[in-house]
Amino acid sequence: MKFFIDTANLAQIKEANDLGILDGVTTNPSLMAKEGIIGKEAVLKHYTDICKIVDGDVSAEVISTDYAGMIAEGEKLASLHENIVVKIPMIKDGIKAIKYLSSKGIRTNCTLVFSAGQAILAAKAGATYISPFIGRLDDISYDGMDLIAQIAQIFSVQGYQTQILAASIRNPIHIIKSAQMGAHVITSPLATIMALLKHPLTDSGLAQFLADHQKANA
Ligand code: E4P
Repeated sequence: MKFFIDTANLAQIKEANDLGILDGVTTNPSLMAKEGIIGKEAVLKHYTDICKIVDGDVSAEVISTDYAGMIAEGEKLASLHENIVVKIPMIKDGIKAIKYLSSKGIRTNCTLVFSAGQAILAAKAGATYISPFIGRLDDISYDGMDLIAQIAQIFSVQGYQTQILAASIRNPIHIIKSAQMGAHVITSPLATIMALLKHPLTDSGLAQFLADHQKANA
């Protein structure tokens, strides 16, 4: 399973990349705004800066919601760097745009997926990735992990090549269960990736080993 980081913060992207386990980055307009990246040129430059840090797929989201606008934006974003994956919302014109862009060899990530039906449509259109938002489903009392399991089963039965990118990750259990259920990728905040490291028995075990070594070598 690939690990993407879900942020537009360059320091966090560098930190995750330095761990040696980072396979890519996802962003969205909210994450760009959070970093104070305002204006078309600044946004394009920021994507280029991210591509300089990480040798892996970088999802860059379109702002348009009409077919022509999404195509124009998608082509512009894809021309920035070979690792750019154009992020397209799960709407009617978005499906048409995914179909067009994939026919031109431009890779896409269909975002804001909340149902198996939406996942099937995006796969049929040729999306490289689909992004089911687990946490946002949990927030409204649906089990986001159930959706990942359902999509994984459908894609396996149908032989779809589209990769399941589990998004809106809120805790380490989401990452572990995504791996268990066959998601191809997770995208997560840095803090949640780092939370996978932690176990109290690791900390106490290491402290004991070091104390014993100290005693024996005093
Ligand atoms: C995915 O690509 C989205 O950027 C992201 O995972 C959304 O997460 P949120 O629900 O925490 O905003």
